[in-house]
Amino acid sequence: MRIDVVSIFPGYFDALELSLLGKAKQRGLIDVRVHDLRDAAHDKHRTVDDTPTGGGAGMVMKPEPWGEMLDGILAEAGNSAGAAADAEPGAAGDPLIIFPSPAGEVFTQRMARELAHEQHLVFGCGRYEGIDQRVFDEYAARGRVRLVSIGDYVLNGGEVATIAMIEAIGRLLPGVVGNPESLVEESHEEDGLLEYPSYTKPAEWRDRAVPPVLLSGNHAAIESWRREQRIERTRRVRPELLPRELRGESRGRHAAE
Ligand code: ADE
Repeated sequence: MRIDVVSIFPGYFDALELSLLGKAKQRGLIDVRVHDLRDAAHDKHRTVDDTPTGGGAGMVMKPEPWGEMLDGILAEAGNSAGAAADAEPGAAGDPLIIFPSPAGEVFTQRMARELAHEQHLVFGCGRYEGIDQRVFDEYAARGRVRLVSIGDYVLNGGEVATIAMIEAIGRLLPGVVGNPESLVEESHEEDGLLEYPSYTKPAEWRDRAVPPVLLSGNHAAIESWRREQRIERTRRVRPELLPRELRGESRGRHAAE
């Protein structure tokens, strides 16, 4: 997968050199290219923002540097949408441009799985009060654009949100996580339940024992215990995630306790 990131703080993305994603980059599984938006700002101060038209607080990112930078990325990627105005928007394999924004659709594991099938993602990290709306309109008219939020809170810019999304998507690419089975029983995967609690050795630590069933060697009992833990944890922490068929069951059981 190819990933281009546009930001005025390229240094944020040094974090992608670490751990599994860093290894995936070295092994050529993910090709991440980070671009400094200021390289497309040509005045003495390399200005990328200006006051909001119509008044109001803060600053808005100017459209020209974004246009130059995104046109360059799309053209360089050999994509027709980068050069030709008559290109067919949304053709398969075209880059998908994602603008992280608290005003976007919410990023979920389902979206991560969907985006892991893309060949080329471009992340445009806004700062200040956001990016001039015409940038979204321009690229949505020429191709595929999504505004995506990583949660209902406000960050200072799209950089941290982009790193979170790249990590969630990147670890789903074939070969990135050594043991693909470890992806299956995680929170938000498969059946929508949160994951079960994990233990390792020693069997006792500070008077706290590992649940005996995990030492029993009875695989059916362990599997059943883990499933119960997942249901109980989901009911307690994130009841809205519980599959409909489990809502009645767990409510009934706990009402009787
Ligand atoms: N930029 C600022 N806040 C954000 C959020 N919650 N998600 C994505 N991008 C953002």
